[in-house]
Amino acid sequence: MAKKVDRLVGELEEQFRFLKEIGADFIFAPKTGDKPGCRPPGRPAREEILALHEKVLRCKKCPLALGRTHAVPGEGNLEAELMFIGEGPGHDEDVQGRPFVGRAGQLLTKIIQAMKFEREDVFIANVVKCRPPENRTPHRDEAARCSPFLLEQIRLIQPKVIVTLGKVATDFFVPSASGMTNLRGQFYVWNGIQVMPTFHPSYLIRNEGNRQIRKMVWEDMQKVMAVLGKK
Ligand code: URA
Repeated sequence: MAKKVDRLVGELEEQFRFLKEIGADFIFAPKTGDKPGCRPPGRPAREEILALHEKVLRCKKCPLALGRTHAVPGEGNLEAELMFIGEGPGHDEDVQGRPFVGRAGQLLTKIIQAMKFEREDVFIANVVKCRPPENRTPHRDEAARCSPFLLEQIRLIQPKVIVTLGKVATDFFVPSASGMTNLRGQFYVWNGIQVMPTFHPSYLIRNEGNRQIRKMVWEDMQKVMAVLGKK
């Protein structure tokens, strides 16, 4: 028992150190007047995000770092109103160091354009920043280790709406035993930000002939467009 407690304390201490190191210790101790999810007024987000991305590129906090070609911090407009969050880099993303550049990425880009945005207008990131081997689903502890990076990106960018692509990203904000069919299509409020879960573009590709799934994604995106004044 005592050993188990010691191990837990050790793990927590390490997590604290990591959060502090990347500047995300606000998660545990919000400063007075500094709501989680809010950038302190007057502080330049740009340099902070770039510094954060440097840390992502150097991160070796979990075994996913061992197999990567490049870490993939994310990219886009640092003042985006709209953020898309996927699961983790795949092969193409790992090679290029950029999120959603493979087949699923091309489809995501089309979805973004159909929403009357350009890819450069939005910010695109993933729950884990390094490719899981064979594109497997990231383990919970890998997602937990990587989570301070995503939390800090959101805090600095302060999007109005986050679209979560698939179950891993949705679980990050709306942990639930329900599947995507139940979760999608409605907004959830997370730290004052509207979160819209929808199906992952890879799922659309795997079910290419299924018009019903495409229709559902488009319905979800229309709700997002309405909130962002694009309708
Ligand atoms: N799938 C994801 O979830 N993220 C990417 O960046 C690419 C594919």
